[in-house]
Amino acid sequence: MNNKIINFIKKKNKSKIISLTAYSKNIASIIDKHCDLILVGDSLGSVLYSFSSTKKVTLDMMIEHSISVRMGVKKSLMVVDMPYNTYRNPKEALSNAKKIISKTKCDAIKLEGGKKVIQIIKTLIKNKIPVMGHLGVLPQSATNFKFKGKETAERKIILRDSKLLEDAGVFSIVLECVESSLAKEITKTVKVPTIGIGASVHCDGQVLVTDDLIGLNKIKARFVKKYSNIEKQINDAALKFKKDVVKSKFPTKKHSY
Ligand code: KIV
Repeated sequence: MNNKIINFIKKKNKSKIISLTAYSKNIASIIDKHCDLILVGDSLGSVLYSFSSTKKVTLDMMIEHSISVRMGVKKSLMVVDMPYNTYRNPKEALSNAKKIISKTKCDAIKLEGGKKVIQIIKTLIKNKIPVMGHLGVLPQSATNFKFKGKETAERKIILRDSKLLEDAGVFSIVLECVESSLAKEITKTVKVPTIGIGASVHCDGQVLVTDDLIGLNKIKARFVKKYSNIEKQINDAALKFKKDVVKSKFPTKKHSY
C-alpha cells in the first residue's frame, strides 16, 4: 500500500473524510482543496449523459473523463469507478484496472459488490492495485433504489460482505443508501474507513455527487443536500449576456481588438 492510501486509512476515528465526485478538470481543481478523496464515479452516465442507468457507461468514457480530472487533482486521493461489465472475472478485471491506472494515473479503483466480487478484488490487490469497495445500493445491478438494511437477512449479508471486503484488503468501503444503525455497526466493525452516501452520519466520511451538491443536476433524493444553486447562476449569466448582445452593449471596446 502506498503512503497516500495509508494516510487516508489513518483518518478513521481521527477526522471526518470528505469526498466528492468530479468528471472534469475544472470542477476537480476547485474541490481538490477541500477533499480527501475525489471519485470519478460512473454516475457520470446519468448525470452528464442522461443514461437511464450506469450500465451504459464504457471503460473509454471513464478513462477520458479521468484523464481530465487528473489534471485538476493535486492533493486528494483520486479513485476511478470500474464500469459495468468490465470486471466479470479476475482476468478481465485485472486487464481493465491496469488500463485505467496506466492511462489515468489514478490512485485506486472502485467496484461494486460483496461476496460475488471477492476473488476479483483479491486478484487486483495481489497485483498492487488499491481497491475501494461499494456496498448497499449497487447502481450497476440494482433493480430499485430503495435503501438497504431494513430486513434482518439483508443486514446480515451486508455486514458479512463488509468483513469480506476488509479481509480481501480494500482500503475503504462506500456505503450507499444503507440504514443508519447498520452503517454504524459496519463502521464500528471494519478497520478501514466507511464513506457514506445516504448512509447516516455514523460513517467515517461522506461522499456526494458534486453536480447534486451545487444544484446543477435535477435530482430529488433524500440523501442529497443542495449547497448551492449553480443552475440559477448560469441562467442569470446567460440572460445578462443575451440582453447585452441584443442591446449591443457587448462587446465594448475593452473586449475588442
Ligand atoms: O458513481 C458514483 O458517483 C458513486 C458515488 C455515488 C459513490 O459511486
